[in-house]
Amino acid sequence: MRKKIVAGNWKMNCTLPEGKKLASEVIHMVEDEVNNEAEVVLIPPFIHLTGIQSLIGSSNKIFLGAQNCHQNQSGAFTGEVSASMLVSCGVTHVILGHSERREYFGETDELLSEKVNFTLENGLTPIFCCGEKLEVREARDHESLVGTQVEKALFDLSEDQIRKVVIAYEPVWAIGTGVTASAEQAQEMHAFIRNQIAAKYSQDTADSIPILYGGSVKPDNAKEIFSQQDVDGGLIGGASLKSRDFTNIVKAFD
Ligand code: PGA
Repeated sequence: MRKKIVAGNWKMNCTLPEGKKLASEVIHMVEDEVNNEAEVVLIPPFIHLTGIQSLIGSSNKIFLGAQNCHQNQSGAFTGEVSASMLVSCGVTHVILGHSERREYFGETDELLSEKVNFTLENGLTPIFCCGEKLEVREARDHESLVGTQVEKALFDLSEDQIRKVVIAYEPVWAIGTGVTASAEQAQEMHAFIRNQIAAKYSQDTADSIPILYGGSVKPDNAKEIFSQQDVDGGLIGGASLKSRDFTNIVKAFD
């Protein structure tokens, strides 16, 4: 049985008091209401990580994630944060290659390959994001583009290493737009990614890797998307900023 995961990417939102309020509400609602084994990951901005960690404590249901990290251990990289710093703050997961990082901060597949390696060496779980823009889908090149993103960033890993990765398929045209991929489109791409991993490594390894869907997941569409065979949860943006909505998305696995 693959792990189920619902991760909330707060992006650049919430002051510290707002973030603490949001996290406490989610923690209480999840503890009181959720009846499933899905792991929940809260992913606030860097500066709130320790504040949110003190609310999460040592839960085995709710984990702390970061939105990015640098590919070096330490040094003269003003404004950056390293994997070992994240670990020292209680972080267990880190998003890498979100489409906003690719688009606004020029992150390439080559850089992401370094980052994935480095976070794994530090014992973090990378949530590696891939996904195509609208024009790529319209040109029917989405499989080839996502296939290349996965291959370039992940296929230098050993089989043991790739088994520790979480993948998030996030079609860029569905992020923050209110237009979600249909359950069939999500399933098709998740199966495509899983088959690609099976061909490179093994079916057993491909079957062990959680693949999350991201892009306008809301309480009213989560159940249908999560019920697809190869969809193992979600990476949630907008709806993760509302404790009731985010908890209801987690409850879609009940
Ligand atoms: P969204 O964002 O849920 O607001 O579409 C998803 C993401 O960017 O991970």
